[in-house]
Amino acid sequence: MENKLKIAVIGLGSRGNSYAESAALLPDDCEIVACADILPDRVKRFGDKYGVAEDMRFSSGEELLEHEKLADVAFICTMDRLHYGHAMAALNRGYHLLLEKPVSPVLSECIEIADLAAKKGLEVIVCHVLRYTNFYRKLKELIDSGIIGDIVCIEAYERVVYWHQAHSFVRGNWSNAERSSPMILQKCCHDMDILYWLVGKKSVAVSSFGSLSHFKASEAPEGATERCDEGCPHYHTCPYSVDKNYLEWGRRGVFTWPIDVVSQVPTMEALEEALRTGPYGRCVYHCDNDVVDHQVVNVLFEDGITANFNMCPFTAEGGRKIVVMGTKGDFEGFVDDSKIIFSPFIDRFSDHSVTYMTEGVEDNFGHGGGDYAIVRDLIALLTGKYDVGYSLTRVGDSIESHVIALAAEESRLAGGKLVRSEDYIKENS
Ligand SMILES: NC(=O)c1ccc[n+]([C@@H]2O[C@H](COP(=O)([O-])OP(=O)(O)OC[C@H]3O[C@@H](n4cnc5c(N)ncnc54)[C@H](O)[C@@H]3O)[C@@H](O)[C@H]2O)c1
Repeated sequence: MENKLKIAVIGLGSRGNSYAESAALLPDDCEIVACADILPDRVKRFGDKYGVAEDMRFSSGEELLEHEKLADVAFICTMDRLHYGHAMAALNRGYHLLLEKPVSPVLSECIEIADLAAKKGLEVIVCHVLRYTNFYRKLKELIDSGIIGDIVCIEAYERVVYWHQAHSFVRGNWSNAERSSPMILQKCCHDMDILYWLVGKKSVAVSSFGSLSHFKASEAPEGATERCDEGCPHYHTCPYSVDKNYLEWGRRGVFTWPIDVVSQVPTMEALEEALRTGPYGRCVYHCDNDVVDHQVVNVLFEDGITANFNMCPFTAEGGRKIVVMGTKGDFEGFVDDSKIIFSPFIDRFSDHSVTYMTEGVEDNFGHGGGDYAIVRDLIALLTGKYDVGYSLTRVGDSIESHVIALAAEESRLAGGKLVRSEDYIKENS
């Protein structure tokens, strides 16, 4: 490997662009030399933006990977069910990988990827971006310092927000589990990874409940039309109307996420056309979605440590909160406020709590800084130029979060039955 790390990006949608933007902030350390997508306009826009040579632009990941190795590392940013094929082909070509989560919705495929990477001596870093944020790094550091004693249990929640659910999990890419993956894996393998990482033990058993309660035809207001447009009597009052969620942002000149998912071209004409004809212009009560809109998971970890996690989109604001309870104190963490409150058990006569604010420069980037920090740490790992960060999410380690999420889904589908992790692994690997 030369001094500057060469990167090939496969899948030039939202994530591929986000990591490319992070890589572009480190021009002395890396350069994007190849790219691939099945949509020609995305290849052109991306190739032009990052100065990728014409003969290094490809019309699919498969085509790029037919060639001898073109770069040191491949960023695999395609959709969930394509990861396995792209990852295996790229490893066989000798690329290190930055691999989007979920690794795969099929556990045996996750294990195959980890095994091949180990055999080839290649790094596969899975994009559990939360681990790389200042907030979770600080929380991990505080837990490892021992100031709350031994962890006994954790309570965590993710408020997805009503409009994000409608965008991604009703109208969008992850609305249908067969096409993408179950929501508890897709959205919350991050959270399962965080629980596992903070506890530092493997899961023993999992149970889960959840369902699709609201975003279905039976819940549609009377007369709601199939497309969300002026023809619908609820167009101006429905909280999910495309006017409120996309067009008004465009009129205000805002074309960032999630508007850029509807149309990468930042003009009102392109946005209106995408909403007229594409999936994001559908009524949220008349889509082909089948993933849950709320789910709760209980996890038993080794040493009797327990955790419960609640994912729900029926909230006005989004965000995550976590409470870590130990034998000598607790941490209450407000992820979106970058705040951790440590309360030791000393006495009840005065307030002994300490508040840590964890925000930093990196927080200005996506996912609380995680999108940038994961790329920086990957580059640090592969170039050896800097110290590797605290939270590397290697694929072998990432599998545990997938086991918890997939076992939770099995439990949910079976009405909440107890699924032992060991059994899940045995039956699915
Ligand atoms: N780490 C995170 O926090 C996070 C957040 C959102 C999404 N994701 C994951 O990232 C992945 C991509 O999500 P996204 O939002 O960027 O989706 P996207 O639809 O915006 O991008 C996927 C891109 O892959 C392209 N593509 C399809 N088939 C291809 C092929 N054979 N070869 C090359 N390109 C191909 C599509 O045309 C599209 O441009 C998903 O697996 C998703 O679960 C991770």
